[in-house]
Amino acid sequence: MNDRIEAVRQKALADLSAAGDPKTLEETQVRYLGRKGEVSALLRGVSSLPVEERPEAGKRANALKQELAKAFEDAKKRLEQSLGKKTAEGIDVTLPGRRPVLGRLHPLTRVMEEICEAFIRLGFSVAEGPEVEADYYNFEALNFPPEHPARDMQDTFFISEKVVLRTHTSPLQVRTMEKTSPPVRIIAPGKVYRCDSDITHTPMFQQVEGLVVDEGIRFSDLKGVLASFVQQVFDPGTPLRFRPSFSPFTEPSAEVDIGCVMCKGEGCRVCGQTGWLEILGAGMVHPAVFENVGYDTQKYTGFAFGLGVERIAMLKYGIDDIRRFYENDARFLGQF
Ligand code: FA5
Repeated sequence: MNDRIEAVRQKALADLSAAGDPKTLEETQVRYLGRKGEVSALLRGVSSLPVEERPEAGKRANALKQELAKAFEDAKKRLEQSLGKKTAEGIDVTLPGRRPVLGRLHPLTRVMEEICEAFIRLGFSVAEGPEVEADYYNFEALNFPPEHPARDMQDTFFISEKVVLRTHTSPLQVRTMEKTSPPVRIIAPGKVYRCDSDITHTPMFQQVEGLVVDEGIRFSDLKGVLASFVQQVFDPGTPLRFRPSFSPFTEPSAEVDIGCVMCKGEGCRVCGQTGWLEILGAGMVHPAVFENVGYDTQKYTGFAFGLGVERIAMLKYGIDDIRRFYENDARFLGQF
């Protein structure tokens, strides 16, 4: 029995020193000291020895159990310490630090700034107004009488019967003219809302309104300002066209398209195969609007325009779906 005990001891100590990781050490411990382990088997074997040998053998087997239990505990501590040391040694203090990821302006913010700067260079100043707007400023003062079918052209979000989320920035025409006498030369950038969503429409989008009023303002002034704007914001030579249109607050009215930069005018998904993309509505201010703000219609004329900022951004960056700007996908936004 003594020889068996010594053999198990030698083997256990050899296996213990060979166990180089916590998992192997744990398994080795179970193999010797577990309920079905080799030391337990030795202890059970004591009862089958002749009576006179039992006390001595039992003592020795128990001593082995205690010795091995301590040896495993010590080995565990040593292993934990050396692993901790290795992790500390693994930090290379000479490596360069990690740069924090820097935020940047949203592409629409940048395009909005670029558009405003182009008009500011042309002598325009900036006006602002509320996004929750009275029906009077959004429609009525702009010559959309109640029940007028032209109201259906702008799918409106109503707050109450007489209050809406503004559907365009044109209320700023009226708000500005109520407060100032001519000459007027303003742009009004801001968010607008319509119940509309597809690859070129979002329910919230941004417009920049423009208004110029003075004596002798003509349609050719409108064309000159818009042509200069397009040359500043797009590549020189980008084509621009005026299409006759209807708006209750301008007469004559036009929609302005620029050549689709995506397909270079050949026709694609974004421009609906036409080669052109509408960027704004414009026209000469309707005399009814001047009357609503008390301007002398015999003395003054003016032009106004309202452009879609997202459409300009799509064209500048070649984006084929307007909704991408609002999905907040960092992989998309990080490209700009
Ligand atoms: C208007 O909103 C007029 N207020 C523009 C105007 C101002 C005309 C001054 C005359 C004088 P329109 O609904 O066409 O017009 O919108 C103007 C531009 O906003 C469009 O050319 C387009 O570029 C953009 N736009 C319109 N709806 C959406 C939408 N749902 N999502 C993104 N852009 C849009």
